[in-house]
Formats: sequence, C-alpha cells, structure tokens
Amino acid sequence: MDSILVTGNGPLSGQIPIAGAKNACLTLMPATLLSEEPLTLTNAPRLSDIKTMTELLQSLGAEVSSLQEGQVLAMSSHDLTSHTADYEIVRKMRASNLVLGPMLARLGQAVVSLPGGCAIGARPMDLHVEGLEALGAEIDLKDGYLHAKAPGGLKGAVHEMRFASVGATENIVMAATLAKGTTVLKNAAREPEIVDLVECLRKMGAQISGEGSSTIEIQGVDRLHGATHQVVTDRIELGTYMLAPAICGGEVELLGGRMRLVDSFAAKLDAAGIDVTETEKGLKVARKNGRVRSVDVVTEPFPGFPTDLQAQMMALMCTAEGTSVLEERIFENRFMHAPELVRMGANIEVHGGTATVTGVERLKGAPVMATDLRASVSLILAGLAAEGETTVSRVYHLDRGYEHVVRKLEGVGAKIERIKGQ
Ligand code: EPZ
Repeated sequence: MDSILVTGNGPLSGQIPIAGAKNACLTLMPATLLSEEPLTLTNAPRLSDIKTMTELLQSLGAEVSSLQEGQVLAMSSHDLTSHTADYEIVRKMRASNLVLGPMLARLGQAVVSLPGGCAIGARPMDLHVEGLEALGAEIDLKDGYLHAKAPGGLKGAVHEMRFASVGATENIVMAATLAKGTTVLKNAAREPEIVDLVECLRKMGAQISGEGSSTIEIQGVDRLHGATHQVVTDRIELGTYMLAPAICGGEVELLGGRMRLVDSFAAKLDAAGIDVTETEKGLKVARKNGRVRSVDVVTEPFPGFPTDLQAQMMALMCTAEGTSVLEERIFENRFMHAPELVRMGANIEVHGGTATVTGVERLKGAPVMATDLRASVSLILAGLAAEGETTVSRVYHLDRGYEHVVRKLEGVGAKIERIKGQ
C-alpha cells in the first residue's frame, strides 16, 4: 500500500484548482438509469469512487465511457440487463445504494445489498426504505439485500423524513421523477449536491421545485430524455484546501471556489483569524497576522458546518490558541483521526461525540495511519505544518475522494511525495 511523506515546509502560496464534486457525481451517475437516452457529465472528478460507480452501472448493463482523462463521463442506459447491485461493490462504496431509487422507477424492481457498516458508523438505510415505501414500493430485507418492487409503478405521495438524510433525499427524488402524480418530500436535505442533481434532472425533463430548501416537490412524468450536465465544484475538497494556508500560513487561491458553497465553514475560519475573500476566479485564503484562534464546531446538515470537514478543521485547531470543542452530530464514530493527531503531539480528549482540542505551539511529524477518507487528508494537513516528517499510510482512502493531492499541494510549495508501497 502506498503512503504519503509530508515535511513541514513553511508558508504556502499559489493556486489550487478545485475539481468537480465527488458527492454530486456519485448521485448524478445513477440518474442515467432513469432514461433510455444518453446522459453526459462534464467536470467529473478523477477518483476511485467514480470508477467503482462506473463498474456498478456497467454491471447493470449501462454503457459508461470515461473521456478526456476521466473529466467527461458519457453514459447510456438504453438496455439494462440486471437490476441487482452486488454486495461486493456496495460494501466498497455506500453510495452504490443510490441506484435503488432510479432502478425502482425505471424497471419497477431492484435488488440492492445493504452497504454494511463502515469506519465512521452503522449508516443504515431505513430512511431510504421509508421514503420509497411511501411512493408505493414493497421492500423486503433478505440475506443482506433489499428486495424492492413496484409492479404497478410508483405513486406520488407526501412524505416527511425523520432526518434530513442526503442519500435518502437523492434516492426518493430520483424515484419520484417517474412516479404517477405529485410527491412532496419534507425535511429534505439541502446540500449543494442535491441542488446539482435536481438541476440535472430538470435538464432531463423532470418537473421539480424547492431544491435547496427543506421541501422538494416533484411532479412525475412518463419518461426522461438525455442531457449534458457539468458537475458542481467540490465544496469538501474546496474546504479541505482552504485549510492548507490556514495551517501553514501564506496565501492560496482556490480556483473554482465560491463562497456560497462553504458559507458556514468560511465563517468559522474568519472567527479563527483566517481571511477568506471571493475573487473572480475563486476563493483567496490567507492567515491574518498572529496565531490562529480556537473556535467551537458543531456538525449539522447543510447549511450547517459540514461533517466532511470536521476532521480537517480539527487539524487546524491542534495548533490554535486556546481550546476548541468539536461536536460530531452526524456520524457516531468520526473521530478516528484524533488518536493519530495525538501521535503528532496534539492535545485532544474525545468523549462520545465531542472532542476537546487544546492548542499546542507546533505538532511534530510522526508515522500515522489513515482510517477513512476525510481523516486521511486531515493528517496530511497536520503534517504540512508539523516539525519534521509525517508519513501517512493506507492512502487508498485518499484516492477515493481527492485527485492529485501531491501535485496540488506541491504546486503551492508543500514538501510532499507519494511513496510506492511494497
Ligand atoms: C452523504 O452520505 C455523503 N456521501 C457523506 O460523505 C456525508 O458525510 C453525508 O452525506 C452527510 O453529509 C455521499 O454523498 C456519497 P446521510 P449519506 O444519509 O447520504 C444516518 C464523504 O466523506 N442515516 O445524510 O450516507 C447515517 O447513519 C462521505 O464524502 C440513517 O440513520 O449520509 C448518518 O449517521 C462520508 N438512516 C446520518 O444519517 C438512513 O437511511 C447522515 O447520513 C440514512 C442515513
């Protein structure tokens, strides 16, 4: 397995291009199942999760061609040959469950493996099942697979979700586009990736309103046609790289970044003493004079502080002045980066869903282990400013969600290299 070697190397400067959003692309790709006509995505990120979703769609009979070095995905689901999403693929990537709604809507049946637990939590699918059952689907759990069918087609309904689940919102909205009648989805998730999905579905002929708010209304149509759609900028990659100059000092411009994608996150950085300004080409981030100040963080559904930036924010708080309390309210086990940061000299105490970080002057480089996608990049961020060398192992986690990390950080002056594994 490869590892990444980072050496603290002082302030950063330059520009980092931000890619298309992994979590938008992973819901846009299954949307191809809703139509017999081609769906083409541009600005797609080059990530292993995208390859996994490609394999899954191809296993269902869809054609997926990756063009222009993976930035364009030309897809067509004219002839689907299977309606089963295998455990082997789903257990690798939970987002595989996003084929459930589209397959139900298009084929009237779907067999999707439950994803099983993952490092950050149990991540059940009860909210997906409740929503699709509200649209008339019959769903049974057998041998670890959800067996779903809607022989007479899906019917629009009014449904309120118990929690604003991102994936459940995406599955229900995609299914509702081809249901008979109107669906009103209440307590819907408001993430920008959902807005991006709805904009793409609308280009395909779906009748949807309210995206980005807690109530989304969908008028079912008989069929959807093809479209071409540009994947929205990745706000989590954006937020991650905003933290690089925050942690190291210097000034970096994140190309493609827009403030509306990271509002609450940027507000926290401002409170911590980091300057974020929107330029014509993106977001410019610089540490104001003096030491970073500690701030408290509570993760919430959008527009609150994103759980996917909690680990990275903790890395910044490790050397901030004062004490920061980070409360993780979305996942039950998303502090696995904390013990690794402690190995680098951080002062962190974790009690249940709360981590208390007391800032230290400087971290010291050490061999550390990545445990999940966002934890892996938080360790790299910590290593950028630590004294000496940090080796982050198990970087396959990183490849799931960050394209060309080494090249992007080297480009702004970081001392970083990828070490090929045995
Ligand atoms: C999406 O996961 C993202 N993944 C996650 O990003 C992100 O952390 C999460 O939303 C929250 O923002 C993709 O978009 C591919 P949820 P999702 O359904 O849809 C519980 C990353 O690092 N829940 O909003 O799975 C669940 O266990 C990944 O890019 C149920 O209880 O998130 C969790 O505690 C990690 N029952 C909470 O809700 C359900 O049926 C949030 O889950 C569904 C979810």
